[in-house]
Amino acid sequence: MPPRGTARTGPGSPGGVDVAGLRARAAATLLRNRRGSTTVPTGALYPHQWSWDSAFIAVGLAHVDPGRAFAELAALHEAQWRDGRVPQIVFNPAVPEDAYFPGPASWRPLPPHGPAPGVSTTGLVQPPVHAAAVLAVAERHPGAATDAALRHLYPRLARSHDYLFERRRVASGLVAVVHPWETGLDNSPAWDEPLRAAGAGPVEAVPGLRRDLRHAEAGHRPTDQDYARYLAVVAAYRDRGYADDDLTDLPFCVVDPLFCAVLAWSEHALAGLARRVGADPGRHVERAGELAHQVHARLFDPALGCYAALDARTGRTVPRRTVAGLVPLLLPDLPAGRRSALLATLTGPAFGLGSPGVRGVPSYDLTAPDADPRRYWRGPTWMNTNWLLWTALRDHGEADLARRLAADAVDLVAGAGFREYFHPLTGEGLGADDFSWTAALLLDVLAHGPEEPRW
Ligand code: SER
Repeated sequence: MPPRGTARTGPGSPGGVDVAGLRARAAATLLRNRRGSTTVPTGALYPHQWSWDSAFIAVGLAHVDPGRAFAELAALHEAQWRDGRVPQIVFNPAVPEDAYFPGPASWRPLPPHGPAPGVSTTGLVQPPVHAAAVLAVAERHPGAATDAALRHLYPRLARSHDYLFERRRVASGLVAVVHPWETGLDNSPAWDEPLRAAGAGPVEAVPGLRRDLRHAEAGHRPTDQDYARYLAVVAAYRDRGYADDDLTDLPFCVVDPLFCAVLAWSEHALAGLARRVGADPGRHVERAGELAHQVHARLFDPALGCYAALDARTGRTVPRRTVAGLVPLLLPDLPAGRRSALLATLTGPAFGLGSPGVRGVPSYDLTAPDADPRRYWRGPTWMNTNWLLWTALRDHGEADLARRLAADAVDLVAGAGFREYFHPLTGEGLGADDFSWTAALLLDVLAHGPEEPRW
């Protein structure tokens, strides 16, 4: 990380980077993607509000408009279900049904424990980064307006975590997800096997339904076969009224190390928010510790050198080395030897952080025979997982690696723009352009020094 406001030359970057210009372009991207009090991930491909996108967007908005950062998450929670879940997508009623697939009609009927009447959402959740995002905004902007925002948001965030801890628990207290879209890493190779077992609808019907390929190249996106499976898994959950009893009867039910680690990390943040609003932090600290303990005890795979997903239906580990398996580095109390094992994997041939020619941390093991460095979550580098790892590295005092990751993030955006994801070897921009969380998280990277710890 360069000092604030200076031009820098990163490893592998031939020239200086105009940091002030990048900041201005990032802020302009967030402004362009604004729709009232919410922000779309990008105008054409994702024209609604996405849950974890909004949390990352809030982290960036803290640097340009903190009021808007809180409003973004307050708007998301207006769509919170009666059972506490915060939906993966909140559909904008002004956007036509056929602008995005699967749109509002595909998720109906929403159940009595769903959102308020007239609010249209999916029935899924996404990784709960929200409490951590709110704490980050609050720390940067102490004051009366923040106190008021926290009094509003804290009970809603706590209810959303209650939902996950109470309704999504499977064996040993781990928390499960019921669709690849809930992991945020949609077509990660980790989901191939559990999804194959889940079955699929007719693949011939898929090309006529998809809207994403109007806005992104087919080679950058999930396949029709992936979509046929996603749709079958949606239908099974919808047809049982999005009920969470007997979760392992659903066709897809996995424990994801990223989701669980982020939940435990955010639960620590909830404790911080509780202290700020005069609520009891104790139950959050306890819940965070219990979940982290299970993550460490049950999901670490020494053969992979990282954490692995667990198929909750079969009880089997999914032996894939993905970026999700590095994210538990976010947790404060790692078991002995775990940090060095994770750092060895992060910097080794699979992910290559710090190696010449590798940009950021790829989403999947680059040495795996099925790595596909251009296709969605099967190889490219993404800004949000890089931001989570950058945060983790700073928290653990790994200043050099954090600096390298930050430099890579800056170079990728300086070279290819605010793209949705990037080729981890060439830096080529992939997926959509004008991508909000790329802009938002770059603003955060540019605003911090790597040595600044979070606890
Ligand atoms: N990321 C999914 C999509 O590609 C949905 O969350 O549409």
